[in-house]
Amino acid sequence: MAGNRGKAKGKSSGNRGGGTGNGKSGNQTAKTKGNQPSRNKTGGANSRAQADHYTLRAQKEGYPARSVYKLEEIQDKYHVFPSSGKILDIGAAPGSWSLFILRKLNGRGTLSAIDLKPLNLPEIPDNYFFIQGDFFDAENVKALKERGPYDAVVSDAAPDTTGNRTLDTGRSAALIESILYQSRELLKKGGSLTVKIFQGGEEQNLLAAFRENFKSARMFKPKACRKDSFETFLIGTGFKGLTDERTEENENSDGQNYPH
Ligand SMILES: C[S@@+](CC[C@H](N)C(=O)[O-])C[C@H]1O[C@@H](n2cnc3c(N)ncnc32)[C@H](O)[C@@H]1O
Repeated sequence: MAGNRGKAKGKSSGNRGGGTGNGKSGNQTAKTKGNQPSRNKTGGANSRAQADHYTLRAQKEGYPARSVYKLEEIQDKYHVFPSSGKILDIGAAPGSWSLFILRKLNGRGTLSAIDLKPLNLPEIPDNYFFIQGDFFDAENVKALKERGPYDAVVSDAAPDTTGNRTLDTGRSAALIESILYQSRELLKKGGSLTVKIFQGGEEQNLLAAFRENFKSARMFKPKACRKDSFETFLIGTGFKGLTDERTEENENSDGQNYPH
């Protein structure tokens, strides 16, 4: 848990002309161009061909990362966020999911977001609030809560991978536990939570915790995930809310409340 206490940089930079475009602007930064996949010297496994497709499409549509098509698929299938209202994007950099949500909102709602890293977006509209900082930092979560409650929380956040799958999946699960725990105070009743998780053993326990907190919960792997990736998504819709009974029921002997 890397701390970044007191360093939250809330940026709500004004709309510097023209909002977030219509998906066809082809806006690209130098960094986006540098993200093009290298050629497959062995002649093209499916996953690489697929990466080419999604990466090229992202460049054409002005998104800094191909990961946007995972959210697009989730949204098309499960409608996890509304076309107006308050939305929170955790692990937002370089900014594809945020840009996708902003385009869908089209000025009808607000988007808050957080990431350890900076964004790589050409424009920051007025209805976008970004904190560069750690979601594990209580001050950052407090700042996000002040802008809520949210209709939907989405998270593509993932720890940097080390190659040690046990370590990587453990860190991913810890991040999701924290997101689920905090989301109980970030979300409106009826709201939704969508999180990426590395598959490695904890996903069934976390799915059970989602079921405790949401009317409907499922695991879903979008086609846009790379074939060899061990990531999947947990989706909870219809947040049950924090009732007194549920709070007491879940209270542990140390006085803390846990998501299940
Ligand atoms: C796969 S990227 C997100 C891509 C993004 N959804 C997009 O479409 O542009 C995962 C992000 O999670 C962020 N992240 C990981 N742990 C975090 C934490 N504790 N707090 C905030 N961000 C975190 C990383 O910095 C990284 O930028």
